[in-house]
Amino acid sequence: MDILVVGGGGREHAVIKALSQSSKIGKIYCAPGNGGISKYAECFPVKATDIDGMVELAEKLKPDYVFVTPDDPLVMGMVDKLNEKGFRTFGPRANAAILEGSKVFSKSLMKKYGIPTAGYETFTDAEKAIAYIKAQNSYPAVIKCDGLALGKGVIIAQNEQEAIDAVNSMLIGGKFGKSGSEIVIEEFMTGPEVTVLAFTDGKTVKPMVSSMDHKRAYDDDKGLNTGGMGTIAPNPLYTKEKADECMEKIFKPTIAAMQKEGRPFKGCLYFGLMLTPNGAKVVEYNCRFGDPEAQVVLPLLKTDLVDIIEAIYEEKLDKLDIEWYNGACACVIMASGGYPEKYPTGLEIKGLDEKGQLADEKAFVYHAGTKLDGEKFLTAGGRVLGVTATADDLQKALDKAYDAVSEISFENAHFRRDIGKRALSE
Ligand code: AMP
Ligand code: GLY
Repeated sequence: MDILVVGGGGREHAVIKALSQSSKIGKIYCAPGNGGISKYAECFPVKATDIDGMVELAEKLKPDYVFVTPDDPLVMGMVDKLNEKGFRTFGPRANAAILEGSKVFSKSLMKKYGIPTAGYETFTDAEKAIAYIKAQNSYPAVIKCDGLALGKGVIIAQNEQEAIDAVNSMLIGGKFGKSGSEIVIEEFMTGPEVTVLAFTDGKTVKPMVSSMDHKRAYDDDKGLNTGGMGTIAPNPLYTKEKADECMEKIFKPTIAAMQKEGRPFKGCLYFGLMLTPNGAKVVEYNCRFGDPEAQVVLPLLKTDLVDIIEAIYEEKLDKLDIEWYNGACACVIMASGGYPEKYPTGLEIKGLDEKGQLADEKAFVYHAGTKLDGEKFLTAGGRVLGVTATADDLQKALDKAYDAVSEISFENAHFRRDIGKRALSE
């Protein structure tokens, strides 16, 4: 099986690593890929959002499958275009990817089908939104723009002024362009967060091992929201009881609702959940693997990923038993100093061998934002590396990952020192 993977971050590196372990895999291609990925897959300089360019590349390479990993091309309909041209794919079509592409869509789907989530209202008019905020007079208030916004379209306002500023920046200031022309104002929920990625062929849903992201830039959940500074799997707060509750009240109803709406979801569906005092509720859906959740979930997958891709494409997921390793996995993101705001690139990364790995192989180094300069790896993004280790238990996995982090360096590298701390203490 030759597979073309679309994307170029740590998550794509994790998908490629898992594919490379398949007994069925032939050639692995990636577009655009990055410095570290180029050691595991042949990379082509086509942007993940360039639909026509990707179709052209697929026509040239003739892969058996195209694995579309990031949200933008999925929401833009890359899978639809590839299917039209006769390519087999992994990932939802645009009419299902809308589950991430539009919060107004996903909230109304949950309301219609009784799937637990925060109560909400939607607005296109700033005056009406502000009147609603004043009438509610309840803070924090959660204000979200409808469309994709690189994870930055959610503002948790602590008081009336912050809420008004958020509404104005989205609906009048156009801070998020078209993505912010409609907004959702929702109830603030409390409780620990859990990510559950699930394989689904549109009919059957098979949840993967749970995980926990660490979204804020600094220790103790301080600083700005980022794409994710580290992850652990499984999430110890997600008990068997919670998993059963989520399966019955959230996972199965979501898949059935999408099927009923004529929008069968095929691929990986990301459930961002909050375990509130009133039960598990959906914070958000994403139409793809999480980044960096994939980096800790895929290393625990025992079943051949190529078999799963085929079962989903052929809608035979009910026939496949998906197995997982016991044990735990931890990923610590090494980011450029300044991320998620301004940061430099082009800095030399020290401590990696010619494959972009650690010579002693104590951890796997997923490359998120790197490029090659001859033999050297240089930083090329905000999140640079995802240093990842598996072990019998979480503490050991974290120790291994942090030990590996201490062997890698670049100027002003920033990483959180408390990944997994909350999970271990609760
Ligand atoms: P989202 O992009 O929707 O996942 O939101 C980003 C982060 O904001 C989430 O991971 C939560 O930590 C937080 N968040 C979003 N919605 C809510 C809510 N209704 N109540 C509390 N926190 C929220
Ligand atoms: N790590 C959060 C996300 O992938 O959306």
